[in-house]
Amino acid sequence: MLLKDNVAIITGGAGVNGLGFATARLMAAQGARVAILDLERADPAAAAAQIGNGAIGIVADVTDKASCDAAAAAVLQAFGRIDTLVNNAGITQPVKTLEITGADYDRILDVSLRGTLYMSQAVLPAMRAQQSGSIVCISSVSAQRGGGILGGPHYSAAKAGVLGLARAMAREFGPESIRVNCITPGLIGTDIIKGKLTEEKKAEIAETIPLARLGRADDIAGACVFLASPLSTYCTGITLDVNGGMLIHCPPRAACGVTPQGAALAVRQSRPGGASGFREPFTHTNGDKHHATQDFHPHPAVHRRPGRRPAAGRAGPGHQADPGPRRRAGQPAPRGRRQVRRGGQGQVGRSHRGSGRAVGPAG
Ligand SMILES: NC(=O)c1ccc[n+]([C@@H]2O[C@H](COP(=O)([O-])OP(=O)(O)OC[C@H]3O[C@@H](n4cnc5c(N)ncnc54)[C@H](O)[C@@H]3O)[C@@H](O)[C@H]2O)c1
Repeated sequence: MLLKDNVAIITGGAGVNGLGFATARLMAAQGARVAILDLERADPAAAAAQIGNGAIGIVADVTDKASCDAAAAAVLQAFGRIDTLVNNAGITQPVKTLEITGADYDRILDVSLRGTLYMSQAVLPAMRAQQSGSIVCISSVSAQRGGGILGGPHYSAAKAGVLGLARAMAREFGPESIRVNCITPGLIGTDIIKGKLTEEKKAEIAETIPLARLGRADDIAGACVFLASPLSTYCTGITLDVNGGMLIHCPPRAACGVTPQGAALAVRQSRPGGASGFREPFTHTNGDKHHATQDFHPHPAVHRRPGRRPAAGRAGPGHQADPGPRRRAGQPAPRGRRQVRRGGQGQVGRSHRGSGRAVGPAG
Protein backbone atom coordinates (compact mmCIF):
# COMPACT_ATOMS: atom_id res chain seq x y z
CA MET A 1 0.00 0.00 0.00
CA LEU A 2 1.72 3.16 -1.20
CA LEU A 3 -0.72 5.58 0.42
CA LYS A 4 -1.55 4.00 3.76
CA ASP A 5 -2.79 6.67 6.24
CA ASN A 6 -2.80 9.26 3.46
CA VAL A 7 -5.75 11.64 3.14
CA ALA A 8 -6.20 12.82 -0.44
CA ILE A 9 -8.42 15.47 -2.01
CA ILE A 10 -9.11 15.23 -5.72
CA THR A 11 -10.86 18.15 -7.39
CA GLY A 12 -13.06 17.52 -10.42
CA GLY A 13 -13.10 13.84 -9.50
CA ALA A 14 -16.74 12.94 -9.97
CA GLY A 15 -16.84 12.07 -13.67
CA VAL A 16 -16.49 8.29 -13.68
CA ASN A 17 -14.64 8.37 -17.03
CA GLY A 18 -12.34 11.16 -15.93
CA LEU A 19 -8.76 11.42 -14.72
CA GLY A 20 -9.88 12.58 -11.28
CA PHE A 21 -12.15 9.60 -10.62
CA ALA A 22 -9.48 7.13 -11.83
CA THR A 23 -7.00 8.85 -9.52
CA ALA A 24 -9.37 8.73 -6.54
CA ARG A 25 -10.05 5.03 -7.19
CA LEU A 26 -6.36 4.13 -7.46
CA MET A 27 -5.45 6.18 -4.40
CA ALA A 28 -8.17 4.46 -2.40
CA ALA A 29 -6.88 1.08 -3.62
CA GLN A 30 -3.45 2.13 -2.33
CA GLY A 31 -4.86 2.80 1.14
CA ALA A 32 -5.77 6.50 0.97
CA ARG A 33 -8.91 8.01 2.39
CA VAL A 34 -10.17 10.14 -0.44
CA ALA A 35 -12.40 13.18 -0.76
CA ILE A 36 -13.84 13.89 -4.18
CA LEU A 37 -14.66 17.54 -4.82
CA ASP A 38 -16.79 18.56 -7.78
CA LEU A 39 -19.69 20.74 -8.88
CA GLU A 40 -23.13 19.85 -7.62
CA ARG A 41 -24.33 18.73 -11.05
CA ALA A 42 -21.47 16.19 -11.22
CA ASP A 43 -22.71 14.53 -7.98
CA PRO A 44 -19.48 13.93 -6.08
CA ALA A 45 -21.28 11.96 -3.35
CA ALA A 46 -22.40 9.36 -5.90
CA ALA A 47 -18.85 9.07 -7.23
CA ALA A 48 -17.49 8.62 -3.71
CA ALA A 49 -20.08 5.92 -3.04
CA GLN A 50 -18.80 4.02 -6.10
CA ILE A 51 -15.30 4.10 -4.70
CA GLY A 52 -16.26 2.96 -1.21
CA ASN A 53 -13.44 2.56 1.36
CA GLY A 54 -14.83 5.52 3.33
CA ALA A 55 -14.48 7.95 0.41
CA ILE A 56 -16.48 11.15 0.76
CA GLY A 57 -17.94 13.47 -1.88
CA ILE A 58 -18.08 17.23 -1.33
CA VAL A 59 -19.77 19.80 -3.52
CA ALA A 60 -17.25 22.52 -4.26
CA ASP A 61 -16.57 25.06 -6.98
CA VAL A 62 -12.82 25.60 -7.30
CA THR A 63 -13.33 29.06 -8.78
CA ASP A 64 -14.88 30.20 -5.51
CA LYS A 65 -12.46 30.77 -2.64
CA ALA A 66 -15.04 30.36 0.12
CA SER A 67 -16.17 27.08 -1.42
CA CYS A 68 -12.57 25.79 -1.50
CA ASP A 69 -11.96 26.78 2.12
CA ALA A 70 -15.21 25.14 3.21
CA ALA A 71 -14.31 21.92 1.38
CA ALA A 72 -10.86 21.75 2.99
CA ALA A 73 -12.46 22.34 6.40
CA ALA A 74 -14.94 19.52 5.75
CA VAL A 75 -12.11 17.13 4.87
CA LEU A 76 -10.22 18.07 8.02
CA GLN A 77 -13.33 17.48 10.04
CA ALA A 78 -13.91 14.08 8.45
CA PHE A 79 -10.34 12.76 8.36
CA GLY A 80 -8.27 15.02 10.64
CA ARG A 81 -5.50 15.81 8.15
CA ILE A 82 -4.74 16.50 4.46
CA ASP A 83 -1.71 14.85 2.89
CA THR A 84 -2.43 15.12 -0.81
CA LEU A 85 -4.24 17.54 -3.07
CA VAL A 86 -4.74 16.76 -6.74
CA ASN A 87 -5.71 19.93 -8.60
CA ASN A 88 -7.49 18.17 -11.41
CA ALA A 89 -10.61 20.23 -12.18
CA GLY A 90 -10.38 21.79 -15.62
CA ILE A 91 -12.42 22.69 -18.65
CA THR A 92 -11.47 23.30 -22.25
CA GLN A 93 -12.84 25.04 -25.31
CA PRO A 94 -11.74 24.43 -28.90
CA VAL A 95 -11.61 27.95 -30.31
CA LYS A 96 -8.98 30.06 -32.07
CA THR A 97 -7.27 33.17 -30.74
CA LEU A 98 -9.49 35.71 -32.48
CA GLU A 99 -12.65 33.99 -31.27
CA ILE A 100 -11.82 34.08 -27.54
CA THR A 101 -14.11 36.45 -25.66
CA GLY A 102 -13.36 37.93 -22.28
CA ALA A 103 -15.92 35.60 -20.74
CA ASP A 104 -14.29 32.56 -22.39
CA TYR A 105 -10.91 33.62 -21.07
CA ASP A 106 -12.23 34.03 -17.54
CA ARG A 107 -14.09 30.72 -17.60
CA ILE A 108 -11.16 28.63 -18.82
CA LEU A 109 -8.47 30.29 -16.71
CA ASP A 110 -10.66 30.42 -13.63
CA VAL A 111 -11.15 26.68 -13.34
CA SER A 112 -7.59 25.52 -14.11
CA LEU A 113 -5.48 28.36 -12.80
CA ARG A 114 -7.49 30.25 -10.19
CA GLY A 115 -8.88 26.91 -9.00
CA THR A 116 -5.36 25.54 -8.52
CA LEU A 117 -4.42 28.60 -6.51
CA TYR A 118 -7.55 28.66 -4.35
CA MET A 119 -7.50 24.94 -3.55
CA SER A 120 -3.78 25.04 -2.77
CA GLN A 121 -4.37 28.02 -0.47
CA ALA A 122 -7.15 26.06 1.23
CA VAL A 123 -5.00 23.02 2.07
CA LEU A 124 -1.61 24.65 2.68
CA PRO A 125 -2.28 25.71 6.30
CA ALA A 126 -3.03 22.09 7.25
CA MET A 127 0.04 20.83 5.36
CA ARG A 128 2.17 23.47 7.04
CA ALA A 129 0.92 22.41 10.44
CA GLN A 130 1.89 18.83 9.56
CA GLN A 131 5.15 19.97 7.90
CA SER A 132 4.39 17.59 5.05
CA GLY A 133 2.18 17.34 2.00
CA SER A 134 2.06 16.73 -1.70
CA ILE A 135 0.19 18.87 -4.21
CA VAL A 136 -0.21 17.47 -7.70
CA CYS A 137 -1.37 19.87 -10.41
CA ILE A 138 -2.82 18.56 -13.65
CA SER A 139 -1.50 20.75 -16.44
CA SER A 140 -1.51 19.56 -20.05
CA VAL A 141 0.71 18.80 -23.01
CA SER A 142 -1.17 21.74 -24.48
CA ALA A 143 0.93 24.04 -22.27
CA GLN A 144 4.09 22.64 -23.81
CA ARG A 145 3.16 22.40 -27.46
CA GLY A 146 0.81 25.38 -27.70
CA GLY A 147 -2.40 23.43 -28.00
CA GLY A 148 -3.14 22.17 -31.45
CA ILE A 149 -5.35 19.24 -30.53
CA LEU A 150 -8.40 20.34 -28.62
CA GLY A 151 -8.03 23.31 -26.34
CA GLY A 152 -7.81 26.89 -27.50
CA PRO A 153 -4.91 29.25 -26.78
CA HIS A 154 -6.53 30.35 -23.52
CA TYR A 155 -6.52 26.70 -22.38
CA SER A 156 -2.81 26.41 -23.26
CA ALA A 157 -2.20 29.63 -21.33
CA ALA A 158 -4.15 28.39 -18.31
CA LYS A 159 -2.22 25.13 -18.24
CA ALA A 160 1.11 26.89 -18.76
CA GLY A 161 0.15 29.16 -15.87
CA VAL A 162 -0.39 26.07 -13.75
CA LEU A 163 3.21 25.00 -14.45
CA GLY A 164 4.56 28.35 -13.27
CA LEU A 165 2.30 28.53 -10.24
CA ALA A 166 3.23 25.00 -9.18
CA ARG A 167 6.96 25.65 -9.48
CA ALA A 168 6.67 28.87 -7.49
CA MET A 169 4.74 27.07 -4.74
CA ALA A 170 7.29 24.24 -4.81
CA ARG A 171 10.05 26.77 -4.20
CA GLU A 172 8.12 28.55 -1.44
CA PHE A 173 6.96 25.50 0.49
CA GLY A 174 9.85 23.10 -0.10
CA PRO A 175 11.54 24.06 3.19
CA GLU A 176 8.39 22.86 4.96
CA SER A 177 8.49 19.47 3.23
CA ILE A 178 5.50 20.31 1.09
CA ARG A 179 6.08 19.14 -2.46
CA VAL A 180 4.31 20.60 -5.48
CA ASN A 181 4.55 18.88 -8.86
CA CYS A 182 2.78 18.88 -12.20
CA ILE A 183 1.62 16.23 -14.58
CA THR A 184 1.24 17.08 -18.25
CA PRO A 185 -1.12 14.51 -19.73
CA GLY A 186 -1.15 13.96 -23.46
CA LEU A 187 -4.42 13.09 -25.15
CA ILE A 188 -6.42 10.89 -22.79
CA GLY A 189 -9.73 9.28 -23.70
CA THR A 190 -12.12 10.94 -21.21
CA ASP A 191 -15.36 12.90 -21.41
CA ILE A 192 -13.40 16.09 -22.07
CA ILE A 193 -12.69 14.89 -25.62
CA LYS A 194 -16.03 13.13 -26.09
CA GLY A 195 -17.67 14.07 -29.37
CA LYS A 196 -14.82 16.46 -30.20
CA LEU A 197 -12.64 14.03 -32.18
CA THR A 198 -13.72 11.47 -34.77
CA GLU A 199 -12.38 7.93 -34.49
CA GLU A 200 -10.43 8.64 -37.67
CA LYS A 201 -8.80 11.70 -36.12
CA LYS A 202 -7.96 9.75 -32.94
CA ALA A 203 -6.30 7.03 -35.03
CA GLU A 204 -4.38 9.69 -36.93
CA ILE A 205 -3.12 11.20 -33.68
CA ALA A 206 -2.25 7.76 -32.27
CA GLU A 207 0.01 7.19 -35.28
CA THR A 208 2.15 10.13 -34.24
CA ILE A 209 2.57 8.84 -30.67
CA PRO A 210 5.55 6.52 -30.04
CA LEU A 211 3.46 4.30 -27.76
CA ALA A 212 0.90 4.20 -30.61
CA ARG A 213 -2.24 4.85 -28.59
CA LEU A 214 -4.16 7.55 -26.79
CA GLY A 215 -3.73 7.64 -23.02
CA ARG A 216 -6.08 6.07 -20.50
CA ALA A 217 -7.29 7.67 -17.28
CA ASP A 218 -5.34 5.08 -15.29
CA ASP A 219 -2.11 6.21 -16.94
CA ILE A 220 -2.53 9.56 -15.20
CA ALA A 221 -3.80 8.00 -11.97
CA GLY A 222 -0.57 6.00 -11.68
CA ALA A 223 1.51 9.15 -12.04
CA CYS A 224 -0.61 10.90 -9.37
CA VAL A 225 -0.11 8.01 -6.94
CA PHE A 226 3.64 8.15 -7.57
CA LEU A 227 3.77 11.89 -6.83
CA ALA A 228 1.64 11.50 -3.69
CA SER A 229 3.64 8.56 -2.38
CA PRO A 230 6.98 8.24 -0.58
CA LEU A 231 8.43 6.98 -3.89
CA SER A 232 8.77 10.61 -4.97
CA THR A 233 9.94 12.28 -1.76
CA TYR A 234 12.82 14.09 -3.51
CA CYS A 235 10.68 15.35 -6.39
CA THR A 236 9.35 18.87 -6.25
CA GLY A 237 8.74 21.42 -8.97
CA ILE A 238 8.87 18.71 -11.62
CA THR A 239 6.73 18.36 -14.71
CA LEU A 240 5.96 14.72 -15.32
CA ASP A 241 5.05 14.10 -18.96
CA VAL A 242 2.51 11.31 -19.33
CA ASN A 243 1.88 11.41 -23.03
CA GLY A 244 3.10 8.19 -24.67
CA GLY A 245 6.17 9.97 -25.98
CA MET A 246 4.17 12.55 -27.91
CA LEU A 247 6.76 15.25 -27.30
CA ILE A 248 9.80 13.39 -28.55
CA HIS A 249 10.98 15.60 -31.35
CA CYS A 250 11.27 13.03 -34.12
CA PRO A 251 8.29 10.84 -35.07
CA PRO A 252 8.51 7.10 -34.47
CA ARG A 253 10.17 4.90 -37.01
CA ALA A 254 6.90 3.89 -38.63
CA ALA A 255 5.93 7.50 -39.27
CA CYS A 256 9.43 8.74 -39.96
CA GLY A 257 9.91 7.18 -43.37
CA VAL A 258 13.69 7.44 -43.19
CA THR A 259 15.04 4.02 -44.07
CA PRO A 260 18.66 2.98 -43.54
CA GLN A 261 19.03 3.05 -47.32
CA GLY A 262 17.55 6.53 -47.46
CA ALA A 263 19.84 7.68 -44.70
CA ALA A 264 22.90 6.26 -46.45
CA LEU A 265 21.85 8.00 -49.64
CA ALA A 266 21.44 11.26 -47.75
CA VAL A 267 24.98 10.84 -46.46
CA ARG A 268 26.38 10.17 -49.90
CA GLN A 269 24.53 13.08 -51.42
CA SER A 270 25.48 15.50 -48.72
CA ARG A 271 29.13 14.51 -48.32
CA PRO A 272 30.68 13.34 -51.57
CA GLY A 273 33.16 10.61 -50.85
CA GLY A 274 30.94 9.08 -48.20
CA ALA A 275 32.52 10.77 -45.21
CA SER A 276 30.39 10.63 -42.13
CA GLY A 277 27.92 13.33 -41.28
CA PHE A 278 24.75 14.86 -42.63
CA ARG A 279 25.29 18.33 -43.92
CA GLU A 280 21.87 19.04 -45.33
CA PRO A 281 18.66 18.88 -43.41
CA PHE A 282 16.26 16.34 -44.86
CA THR A 283 12.54 16.25 -44.56
CA HIS A 284 10.46 13.63 -42.85
CA THR A 285 7.29 12.41 -44.43
CA ASN A 286 5.32 14.52 -41.97
CA GLY A 287 7.09 17.65 -43.10
CA ASP A 288 9.38 18.07 -40.08
CA LYS A 289 12.85 19.26 -40.94
CA HIS A 290 15.54 17.15 -39.43
CA HIS A 291 19.16 18.07 -39.25
CA ALA A 292 21.39 15.33 -38.09
CA THR A 293 24.03 17.62 -36.72
CA GLN A 294 21.52 19.52 -34.59
CA ASP A 295 18.85 17.15 -33.45
CA PHE A 296 19.02 13.93 -31.54
CA HIS A 297 17.10 11.17 -33.29
CA PRO A 298 15.47 8.68 -30.91
CA HIS A 299 16.20 5.68 -33.09
CA PRO A 300 19.71 6.06 -34.39
CA ALA A 301 19.66 2.56 -35.87
CA VAL A 302 17.44 3.95 -38.60
CA HIS A 303 20.24 6.17 -39.76
CA ARG A 304 23.07 3.73 -39.38
CA ARG A 305 24.38 2.15 -42.52
CA PRO A 306 23.48 -1.52 -42.41
CA GLY A 307 26.30 -3.92 -41.63
CA ARG A 308 28.68 -1.23 -40.52
CA ARG A 309 29.41 -0.11 -36.99
CA PRO A 310 30.68 3.37 -36.33
CA ALA A 311 34.45 3.19 -36.05
CA ALA A 312 36.03 4.00 -32.69
CA GLY A 313 37.21 7.57 -32.60
CA ARG A 314 34.90 8.56 -35.44
CA ALA A 315 31.18 9.06 -35.42
CA GLY A 316 29.07 6.82 -37.62
CA PRO A 317 27.28 7.93 -40.73
CA GLY A 318 24.17 8.81 -38.75
CA HIS A 319 23.57 11.86 -36.68
CA GLN A 320 26.29 11.14 -34.18
CA ALA A 321 28.15 12.35 -37.11
CA ASP A 322 29.33 15.90 -37.21
CA PRO A 323 32.91 15.79 -36.02
CA GLY A 324 32.91 19.59 -35.69
CA PRO A 325 35.81 21.83 -36.57
CA ARG A 326 39.19 20.27 -36.00
CA ARG A 327 41.10 21.55 -33.01
CA ARG A 328 44.79 21.89 -32.66
CA ALA A 329 46.46 20.08 -29.81
CA GLY A 330 46.16 22.10 -26.64
CA GLN A 331 43.32 24.26 -27.95
CA PRO A 332 40.46 24.45 -25.42
CA ALA A 333 37.27 22.52 -26.15
CA PRO A 334 34.17 24.42 -27.23
CA ARG A 335 32.01 25.39 -24.27
CA GLY A 336 29.08 23.23 -23.34
CA ARG A 337 30.32 20.03 -24.93
CA ARG A 338 31.10 17.12 -22.73
CA GLN A 339 34.30 15.29 -23.48
CA VAL A 340 35.53 11.81 -22.96
CA ARG A 341 39.17 11.03 -23.12
CA ARG A 342 39.74 7.83 -24.99
CA GLY A 343 42.08 5.49 -23.21
CA GLY A 344 45.58 5.68 -24.55
CA GLN A 345 44.70 7.36 -27.86
CA GLY A 346 44.69 10.95 -26.74
CA GLN A 347 41.48 11.51 -28.70
CA VAL A 348 38.43 13.28 -27.48
CA GLY A 349 34.87 12.14 -28.13
CA ARG A 350 31.77 14.34 -27.98
CA SER A 351 28.73 13.54 -25.96
CA HIS A 352 25.81 12.14 -27.89
CA ARG A 353 23.47 15.06 -27.95
CA GLY A 354 20.28 14.44 -26.02
CA SER A 355 21.14 10.89 -25.05
CA GLY A 356 23.07 11.80 -21.96
CA ARG A 357 25.67 9.24 -23.05
CA ALA A 358 29.15 10.09 -24.06
CA VAL A 359 30.28 8.80 -27.41
CA GLY A 360 33.39 6.85 -26.75
CA PRO A 361 34.79 3.40 -26.32
CA ALA A 362 32.59 0.82 -24.69
CA GLY A 363 32.75 0.82 -20.92
N1 LIG B 1 -8.39 14.21 -21.19
C1 LIG B 1 -7.32 14.77 -21.71
O1 LIG B 1 -6.92 14.47 -22.83
C2 LIG B 1 -6.54 15.77 -20.90
C3 LIG B 1 -5.27 16.15 -21.39
C4 LIG B 1 -4.53 17.07 -20.68
C5 LIG B 1 -5.03 17.60 -19.50
N2 LIG B 1 -6.27 17.24 -19.06
C6 LIG B 1 -6.75 17.86 -17.82
O2 LIG B 1 -7.09 16.83 -16.92
C7 LIG B 1 -8.09 17.31 -16.02
C8 LIG B 1 -9.22 16.31 -15.97
O3 LIG B 1 -9.80 16.24 -17.24
P1 LIG B 1 -10.70 15.01 -17.73
O4 LIG B 1 -10.19 14.66 -19.06
O5 LIG B 1 -10.82 13.99 -16.69
O6 LIG B 1 -12.08 15.78 -17.98
P2 LIG B 1 -13.48 15.67 -17.26
O7 LIG B 1 -14.34 16.65 -17.96
O8 LIG B 1 -13.90 14.26 -17.18
O9 LIG B 1 -13.17 16.16 -15.77
C9 LIG B 1 -13.17 17.50 -15.36
C10 LIG B 1 -13.92 17.60 -14.06
O10 LIG B 1 -13.79 18.91 -13.54
C11 LIG B 1 -15.01 19.26 -12.98
N3 LIG B 1 -15.14 20.72 -12.87
C12 LIG B 1 -15.32 21.62 -13.88
N4 LIG B 1 -15.42 22.85 -13.37
C13 LIG B 1 -15.27 22.74 -12.04
C14 LIG B 1 -15.28 23.67 -10.97
N5 LIG B 1 -15.44 24.98 -11.19
N6 LIG B 1 -15.10 23.20 -9.71
C15 LIG B 1 -14.94 21.88 -9.48
N7 LIG B 1 -14.93 20.96 -10.44
C16 LIG B 1 -15.09 21.38 -11.71
C17 LIG B 1 -16.05 18.68 -13.91
O11 LIG B 1 -17.32 18.60 -13.32
C18 LIG B 1 -15.41 17.33 -14.21
O12 LIG B 1 -15.81 16.35 -13.29
C19 LIG B 1 -8.49 18.69 -16.53
O13 LIG B 1 -7.79 19.67 -15.81
C20 LIG B 1 -8.01 18.68 -17.96
O14 LIG B 1 -7.77 19.96 -18.45
C21 LIG B 1 -7.03 16.34 -19.73
